Amino acid sequence: MRVAAMMLIASVVIAVGCSSRQAPAGETGAEMMQTEAMSPDFSQTGTAFLKQYCVKCHGGATPAGDLHLDLITDAAAVAAEAHEMEEVLEMLEKHAMPPQGQPQPTQAEIDSFVGQVNAILASAAK
Ligand code: HEC
Repeated sequence: MRVAAMMLIASVVIAVGCSSRQAPAGETGAEMMQTEAMSPDFSQTGTAFLKQYCVKCHGGATPAGDLHLDLITDAAAVAAEAHEMEEVLEMLEKHAMPPQGQPQPTQAEIDSFVGQVNAILASAAK
């Protein structure tokens, strides 16, 4: 009886120890890496993309479509303007913006920008 009880306790301890060590560790690590990699990045490459291809029309006092892309200067601004940023992604994916006749980003630039914004929106939605 005593031995059986000891073994039961021991196996519970082992089971709890294992499960608490395994599952969450991987997630937390990936999440931290993503946040660290994405947040500082947007204020450089993301902002540069907008400045190069969009802010000429979507900046200043009376931006086209009342879309203030000059104010999207970091990951926090992307998260705060999630709805506008969804529209931006849609325009880029449809190749509807920048308008025809304007300097166009390469597909690689679009993919990188869309990926960055999606990652910020996904981690902000958690
Ligand atoms: C040459 C000027 C010009 C450039 C450059 C430009 N846009 Fe636009 N954009 C416009 C105009 C004009 C509209 C239409 C505004 C309206 O319908 O009132 C528009 C509309 C939009 C809209 C819809 C806004 C709404 O009405 O809800 C989005 C989103 C958008 N642009 C995103 C972008 C993005 C992202 C870029 C850069 C990749 C970009 N635009 C570059 C002129 C421009």
